[in-house]
Amino acid sequence: MGRPTKVAIPPTGTSRRGFFKRSGSAAVVLAAAPLMPLGTLAQSAAASLFKHGVASGDPLSDRVILWTRLSPAAGRGAMTVRYVVALDPGLTQVVLRGATKTHPNRDFTVKVDPIGLQAGTTYYYQFAADSETSPVGRTRTLPVGVATRLRFAVVSCSNHAFGFFNAYRRIAERADLDAVIHLGDYFYEYAPGQYGSVRTPEPPVETVTLSDYRTRHAQYKRDADSQEMHRQHPLIAIWDDHEVTNDGWRDGAQNHQPDTEGNWVDRVNVALQAYYEWMPVRIPDANEPRENQRAFRFGNLLELVMLEQRLSGRSQQLPATVPTPFGNGFVQAGAFADPSRTLLGPAQETWLADKLRGTPARWKFLGQGVMFAQIKLQGAPLAAGGGVFANPDQWDGYQPARDRLYAVFKGQGALPPVNNCVVLTGDIHSSWAADLTQDPNNPNTAAGGYNALTGEGSRAVEFVGTSVTSPGLPDETGSTAALLRSINPHFKYIQLTQRGYMLMDVSPEKVVGEWWFVDTVASLSNVQTFAAAFEASNGSNRLTPSAQTTPKANPPALAP
Ligand SMILES: [Fe+2]
Repeated sequence: MGRPTKVAIPPTGTSRRGFFKRSGSAAVVLAAAPLMPLGTLAQSAAASLFKHGVASGDPLSDRVILWTRLSPAAGRGAMTVRYVVALDPGLTQVVLRGATKTHPNRDFTVKVDPIGLQAGTTYYYQFAADSETSPVGRTRTLPVGVATRLRFAVVSCSNHAFGFFNAYRRIAERADLDAVIHLGDYFYEYAPGQYGSVRTPEPPVETVTLSDYRTRHAQYKRDADSQEMHRQHPLIAIWDDHEVTNDGWRDGAQNHQPDTEGNWVDRVNVALQAYYEWMPVRIPDANEPRENQRAFRFGNLLELVMLEQRLSGRSQQLPATVPTPFGNGFVQAGAFADPSRTLLGPAQETWLADKLRGTPARWKFLGQGVMFAQIKLQGAPLAAGGGVFANPDQWDGYQPARDRLYAVFKGQGALPPVNNCVVLTGDIHSSWAADLTQDPNNPNTAAGGYNALTGEGSRAVEFVGTSVTSPGLPDETGSTAALLRSINPHFKYIQLTQRGYMLMDVSPEKVVGEWWFVDTVASLSNVQTFAAAFEASNGSNRLTPSAQTTPKANPPALAP
């Protein structure tokens, strides 16, 4: 979600123009030698070479990306970096040592992908270069075979300018997580004052060049709370739009002006170069850096599919031109009904369908950026046109493509239904739980409709997590959320005002999603509150209210 031109909305009444409005015309809602002995964290953090901490990500059952970055004195050339991986926080039970080189051409970032690790195991790691050591990081490989319980934190929209990453710090404190899933907008491109004023972006311009993107990434990686989240947990991330620029699509973006900012392909290339340098992610194909979709198998319990929805295949967003009392929307007609329009691109659509149909894992998570459930400003059954939709940047703007994914959920010809699909979403700086049905305003379930009381007609579920810092919408009384639910009966929970994260608890019997909110992002704070929980039981494909889950017993020790 981008920088709204106006998000003020009266708590009641009919004048809601602007609520779904943001910038642009679209209406939207919204090895080697042993390392030195382990130093203290304080010593490490203060060390001049490792200003950007350590991170890990993209775990598989036998490997995981380990990341750091060196900050040498000006003029240094290639440098050797050593690393060690151990089974204990004190780094005495060493399983692996290695060395790699970094150099100015990769901005002195360091990324290694050591193989031969054991599945379902927590590891501790440390880098060293010259005479300095990094902080000790902690990570975890994916399980194989029978898996009985998984826990994840889910985050999105971590905008440095809008405040402090208190949510990251709370996540870092949770020792029982298998990974942190970041659904995009890890980073924002805006110049100072354009979108957030709690902290000042570096460099003091909108990021356009390679140097700009690297400098902005470096600022984010110097944040202490971000460093702690990365130090304690492996990250599984996709980008949304802001890692390049607002409202991107395959051949352009709302916030890209070729006349003054150069050619789109060049901007994407430098943004992705910096992204792959600075993020603990594995590049699936170095020749196709935009194709960032990946899958992660957690034994027999979960297949986590991470989707690329901006740069590899997305058709351009269409404008919303149909006036409603709540701002402009659009109907599913004309170009919106064009089946050639796509959010994922044909190749990724096929890859996703094959993954969902082929995995033996019980649960299938779709980690992705934009809302899958309909958000309507005026509800109507599909037979009557379906009503007026709010946000052409979401799946609503690509309904034929969404219908192709529903065909996978429902089964098609000789292909059986795919049950237990759970969509995880970021982007809109607010918290939502949805049953996923193609015709939510049609109560006739015999005719493909949906029963909001029982959930009959739902084919999958969606959990939408709020932002780490980016602003939501003013809805202190909850009246706007209530209005939206009255128009959109498939939503079980809408909370528009709070910042925080989601916690996902996965067992063979059910998936529980919890929303956790922080009290402020305007300053550092350790206050967090459990807000709500919903669950999908095995085979139900629908949500019911749930309760706060309990942490795993005896989790692996946090990194010291
Ligand atoms: Fe965002």
